[in-house]
Amino acid sequence: MEMSRKGFVCGAAALIICAARPLVAAVADVDARIDALLAQMTLEEKIGQLWQTNGKPSQAIEAEDLSKDRSGDRFLADVRAGRYGSLIGRRGADGYNLLQRTAMEGRLGIPLLIGHDLIHSARTCFPIPLALSCSWEPELWRRIGEAIAVEALTLGCNWTFTPMSDISPDARWGRIAEGPGQDPYLASLLVPAMVKGLQGDDPADGRHIAACAKHYIGYGASTGGLDYYAVEMADGTLRDVYLPPFRAAVDAGVATVMPAFHSFNGVPCSMNRYLLTDILRGELGFDGLTISDYQAVDEMATGHGVAERGADAAAKALNAGMDMEMISDNYEKGLKAALASGRVKIETVDNAVRNILRVKFRFGLFDHPTVDVAALERTIDFPAHLALSREAARKSAVLLKNDGVLPLRPGLKVALVGDVADSVREMRGCWEHGDMSNITNTTLLAGLRADGVDVTYSSCYKLDGARNEAALRAAAADADVVVAAFGEYWGRSGENRSVTRIEFAPVQLKVLETLKRAGRPVVAVVFGGRPLALPELDREANAVLMAWNPGGAGGWGVADVLTGLAEPYGRLTVDFPNATGECPKVYNRMTTGRPSEPAGARWSTHYMDIPFTSVYPFGWGLTYTTFDYAGERVHADGDDMVFSVDVKNTGDRAGSEVVQVYVRDVVAATVRPRRELKGYARVWIEPGETKTVQIRVPKARLGYWVDGSYRVEAGEFKAWIAPHSDGGRELTFRLAE
Ligand code: GLC
Repeated sequence: MEMSRKGFVCGAAALIICAARPLVAAVADVDARIDALLAQMTLEEKIGQLWQTNGKPSQAIEAEDLSKDRSGDRFLADVRAGRYGSLIGRRGADGYNLLQRTAMEGRLGIPLLIGHDLIHSARTCFPIPLALSCSWEPELWRRIGEAIAVEALTLGCNWTFTPMSDISPDARWGRIAEGPGQDPYLASLLVPAMVKGLQGDDPADGRHIAACAKHYIGYGASTGGLDYYAVEMADGTLRDVYLPPFRAAVDAGVATVMPAFHSFNGVPCSMNRYLLTDILRGELGFDGLTISDYQAVDEMATGHGVAERGADAAAKALNAGMDMEMISDNYEKGLKAALASGRVKIETVDNAVRNILRVKFRFGLFDHPTVDVAALERTIDFPAHLALSREAARKSAVLLKNDGVLPLRPGLKVALVGDVADSVREMRGCWEHGDMSNITNTTLLAGLRADGVDVTYSSCYKLDGARNEAALRAAAADADVVVAAFGEYWGRSGENRSVTRIEFAPVQLKVLETLKRAGRPVVAVVFGGRPLALPELDREANAVLMAWNPGGAGGWGVADVLTGLAEPYGRLTVDFPNATGECPKVYNRMTTGRPSEPAGARWSTHYMDIPFTSVYPFGWGLTYTTFDYAGERVHADGDDMVFSVDVKNTGDRAGSEVVQVYVRDVVAATVRPRRELKGYARVWIEPGETKTVQIRVPKARLGYWVDGSYRVEAGEFKAWIAPHSDGGRELTFRLAE
């Protein structure tokens, strides 16, 4: 059953025949219940629904003795009076139930939405989203969403501010770690899958929570990769590149959307009516609630300088389509004055309240405001969630280079070096607001031991600091192969973590030199939350595995790939540039009048001092076998173009290949990207086996936005059926008029 109103009613229409109680009635029920409630609400109660606060005193509730008489508690009195529609923060099971009971004691008994950043972990910690995107597996995202949702309810949350849906072209931007990568089509498959997992088919079933598509919109395109910074963007780019994941989230019924901090073409997203109302509601049909980012309404006054705090900021944000204000109190303090002056109409307030009440009804909060956590816990298979996290870590790791040293053969003596290799915290990455208290967390060292590797660990160096040359030499001398942990500490990615260098810290290059001089094969395992510039590693290491921040079971998952217990599965969803100077670097860059390919043309788009092709391009990823492509062909079949290729496993191990279809519109009304991913399929192939892979691409997917409308043009197209975005033999086809 779709969640958006359109889908909801359509779904209802389709189900009237079999449903004992027509679902259309359910929609009408909710709307009727909202209208009935709204008609009774005072202005203060309406304005209260529009505020999410963190209620400092309430966080004490989580720890203190709940039987204590709290009748004098000012905060609870405010909750009972309906001063807040929502709270932010993990409240714990008892705290959650106390707060909900208190809210229901209020005059109209309106429950709270209680939200938190359970981005990739609630109690089980999964790999960071950028890592998960490299699985190219929407079903894995959905399964993880299911796990996070039910665990979140045991932590006292019925709403999470995820999936972050920002296309992230710039590796300097720390929040690339939180997102679905650089491709609109792939992100439009992964993001809705997370929404479906978190919200379920029946959001009111007591096991699912409200999701939040954020940060709307274009956040990843911030100038210079700087967080919170200005974004200037043509409408076509907005619609072709940044909007698709949000459109997919809305079509999947996402309950909430969070506008971003930045200004978009000069207007902060928090008060950008074109984005929040014209596009999000008018074009996409979104009917959930919009919530500001943390104090972002205040920042329209205190930072962007386009409003005064209070009534002015409240009017500008609410009139643009921002329903709920997070933390700052312009709505609470300024809306009455804005109404009195006529800058805000009561209908605008009512519409915002309706959107909020609609989410609360859809998630059954009126009927089931509290959670029987003990009963819920008994239904949660935590070991299965941990196994899912290990599976996700295996599927997120990307084998970037391998001269045959991997998989590690049994019996080899392995020296493991680098402080990150023995750190639980580094596995968990940014935004791991999970509860580490009762869930196993592993390290790479623990993982290698668990997989039976004869491994000796010595830290020898920090990623950005001291190194012990003698210890490095000694470690290598006593081993057959060295596994070295490289990359970035988890604190260099995430919010407000923009950097001017994505090259390795110098110490890591020194470590690499020392290990190479020691004459032992070097397997580099790279941790971190962003693409890094790794030309030296690609040159000098015998193997390179991108492990990202692989989550609480990441030590096991990464070790499973290194030992061959699991086949390498991941494919890059971001380009790995040669140098920071290339950022933002994306595979689907626009072509130019003097294209950079074929490389080497004197008068062409390129840098003089580095290769134009990335060290590792979007879509790249090796396995422990090899594949050969033959017979690439394409034909039209009704509304689809069908791309076919015969893929042979030419190695001695089974493995899975992600066959990718890239397309370019050769003659278009505006300049188009050199290539765009339009379809893919993962196929498992046994050694020596050949499989014919067919990928159907709807012709409707081959269009683009120009002058406010989406068009698919007749004419010539190029295509590549390839293992990554720089590969494949060129095909051509025509779309008929
Ligand atoms: C932060 C982030 C946003 C998060 C919110 C609540 O500043 O921008 O992603 O959901 O505040 O913590």
